Amino acid sequence: MNNWTRRDLLKNSIAASAAVAGQGSSAATQSQSTAPAQAAAAPSTVRERLLLDFGWRFHLGHADDPSKDFGYGRSGETFAKSGGIIPVPRGTPDITHANFDDSVWQKVDLPHDWAIELPFVNDRSLSDHGFHPLGRNYPATSIGWYRRVFDIPASDLGRRLLLEFDGVYRNSIVIFNGHYIGDNFSGYAPFRFDVTDHASYGARNVLLVRVDATLGDGWFYEGAGIYRHVWLTKTNPVHVPQWGTFVRAEVQPGGPATVRVTTEVRNESDATKNCRVVSRILSPAGTAVATLTATPIAIPAWASREFEQQAEIASPALWSIEQPNLYSVETSVEAAGSPVDQSQTSFGIRSIRFDANNGFFLNGQHVEMKGTCNHQDHAGVGAALPDRLQYYRIERLKEMGSNAYRTSHNQPTPELMDACDKLGMLVMCETRMMDSTPEGLSQLERMVRCHRNHPSIVIWSLGNEEPEQGTERGARIETTMKRLVNRLDGSRPVTQAMNYGWGGKGASNVVDVQGFNYNHDRIDQFHKDYPNLPMVGSETASTVSTRGIYANDAVKGYLRAYDTEHPQWASEAEVWWKFYDARPFLAGGFAWTGFDYRGEPTPYSWPCVNSHFGILDLCGFPKDNFFYYQAWWGNKPVLHLFPHWNWAGKEGQEIEVWVHSNLDRVELFLNGQSLGSQNVTRNIHLMWKVKYSAGILEAKGFKGNQQVLAERRETTGAAAALVLRPDRARIAADGEDVSVVTAEVVDAQGRQVPVADNALTFRVSGSGWLLGLGNGDPSCHEMDKAGSRQAFNGLAMAIVQASKQAGEIHVEASSPGLASGTVTIAAAPSTPRPAVP
Ligand code: GAL
Repeated sequence: MNNWTRRDLLKNSIAASAAVAGQGSSAATQSQSTAPAQAAAAPSTVRERLLLDFGWRFHLGHADDPSKDFGYGRSGETFAKSGGIIPVPRGTPDITHANFDDSVWQKVDLPHDWAIELPFVNDRSLSDHGFHPLGRNYPATSIGWYRRVFDIPASDLGRRLLLEFDGVYRNSIVIFNGHYIGDNFSGYAPFRFDVTDHASYGARNVLLVRVDATLGDGWFYEGAGIYRHVWLTKTNPVHVPQWGTFVRAEVQPGGPATVRVTTEVRNESDATKNCRVVSRILSPAGTAVATLTATPIAIPAWASREFEQQAEIASPALWSIEQPNLYSVETSVEAAGSPVDQSQTSFGIRSIRFDANNGFFLNGQHVEMKGTCNHQDHAGVGAALPDRLQYYRIERLKEMGSNAYRTSHNQPTPELMDACDKLGMLVMCETRMMDSTPEGLSQLERMVRCHRNHPSIVIWSLGNEEPEQGTERGARIETTMKRLVNRLDGSRPVTQAMNYGWGGKGASNVVDVQGFNYNHDRIDQFHKDYPNLPMVGSETASTVSTRGIYANDAVKGYLRAYDTEHPQWASEAEVWWKFYDARPFLAGGFAWTGFDYRGEPTPYSWPCVNSHFGILDLCGFPKDNFFYYQAWWGNKPVLHLFPHWNWAGKEGQEIEVWVHSNLDRVELFLNGQSLGSQNVTRNIHLMWKVKYSAGILEAKGFKGNQQVLAERRETTGAAAALVLRPDRARIAADGEDVSVVTAEVVDAQGRQVPVADNALTFRVSGSGWLLGLGNGDPSCHEMDKAGSRQAFNGLAMAIVQASKQAGEIHVEASSPGLASGTVTIAAAPSTPRPAVP
């Protein structure tokens, strides 16, 4: 039996806000001291932010049949009509009751995406969902119920309790102790509910979330369920509300920085409170560089006030792509002289500027944006990425030389922005809908408030390829959106990713930076017509390729990995990048996409279930174009030779051999015989036609006359063994951290067999479990949540997650006839994040 323990064997069977920020505000004066902070440490009980990810139960409901949906809607009543209490039809077990027996519900921890656990269905209408059955025609698999029972101690009476959801896909209804608390429409915008009144103190509390993924927000795989974190935040009645701290830093390159801290304080009590805010600014090294003590002000009962504070930092450590220095503000709130709230907010000091003739500048230095667009989807986990995977993905993109990321086409999870802050990645942060309705503006407001402290975000995108992008009506919508963004932030420009309708009366007249999707032939003319409007390639490329495949195969749904294939609106990597690189007025561009994602199989459909647009596949294994970008985006010598050299049966036939290199000259050899040398031209690959004979294909790369790199492709023997390589061999035993383990099929000499497709079985034991599997094959129909997976062109991937018990995690991959591969990962002692028990 494999150790697919956590989800399947051990645990399993199968803008609106109740607390809307107060309007009233008055600025309070403050004094600044640069002495180490004396602010008294607030007791840790003042504010608790508890992760509510663990210990949930999950059950599918039904979109059409109330009897299979726990009676929801059967009586025709809504929750609201019945005074807030769920009407429980006779004969239906009351799932809102603490005593309800949910033992047959699936045990799940968040983040969770039920869509990847659904079987593949060959129905063309499901193509966007990666052929997982969601939608009006699939009522039995489109509704999910989540249930969590937890204690709230009697001592919490008098505190404010807030449930915060970072993102639920989608149309969710939250029910707490039988009361309808609220709902949320968007699959991406964070939302929160104040549940202070509805809690049972000193008793069990039942939280239910009904999630309806019948309809979609987008045209790509979006997952289903509570796929981001949930938090229970407990505060004093006087506190800083969610996203209530806003830090803006202004700096002239080489000069001092002005840091402005705006802190909203809410008094959710019946008495006026005399409050003050102490903001301690900590350097990247964690030492206090300024302590700002505000003059106390009286905040009336049930009102809010804003404190404005300002500090000068003489020689700031700037945030940059190479040195992503992060400061933080430690906020302490005192009411009537006692500490009542404390929180920490990370921020960076950097300057940004888009110039209509010279592109983008970070800290006064010109930076060409070498970007990728990405959806939030990864092998093994779907839309439910553990935090570490966000870092893993950004690390892979940085390794490629990329410095910019577009959160297409939706607002990101906070941990992705943390990863971009910490690793040094510029971000175009995009909202899902170009929309100025209350719902659209609410989503936009939540995005800006949630993310405005991230220095990595340098531009907001208000939409993608919107039908109204070129119309007067579109311009009005966009104007309203921009006004809101400027009110909430005002430190970043806005753009829109447009694929037609530039100029004229549409959104071009509103945006600060014009986004261009594809359409190179329109760019120069637009620049002439709008010489004062900066421009960026908000989306480009859409080059399609399958890792390790060198001939198109419409039956299997594979595309050759030479840089030649693309849909009619798109282009090769080499074509778009040469175009952008040659135009200094363009701020750079964002290739569609960094990673493959589920859905949008293009140009093929079933059996293909994933897109091919990624420069890396769904597991994060690089395709050959990765090295094109690495050569021309990165700053180290690159020599990449392809294809592989296992072409038994093609002896004597011509094989296209390509090299991506940024060296001066490359010489190619087959079995020691030179096939000639070619000089490298900037941004262009090299190509030879080589008659195949088994052996060693070798490229030698020169800088001047000096050979600096060599790369070989060798005809391998048959698959003989498996080798496991974790991306990190030591992870934290916190119940969340993961290691990404690559399984490689090798021959007797240890060389990766590039065509191997052996069936692998994974076993994980000890202080962790298998979270999911993948292989990057866009036509694979094996389940990600399973114990076995075929290798695809020599590789498969296992995501291994640590438990909260420190110790060793043993990972083994086996396959009939092959020597097994094993690796041990240390789950190191760590303090798990505070969580709801
Ligand atoms: C773009 C669109 C993307 C994706 C891409 C595929 O037009 O913005 O979401 O569909 O095409 O090439």
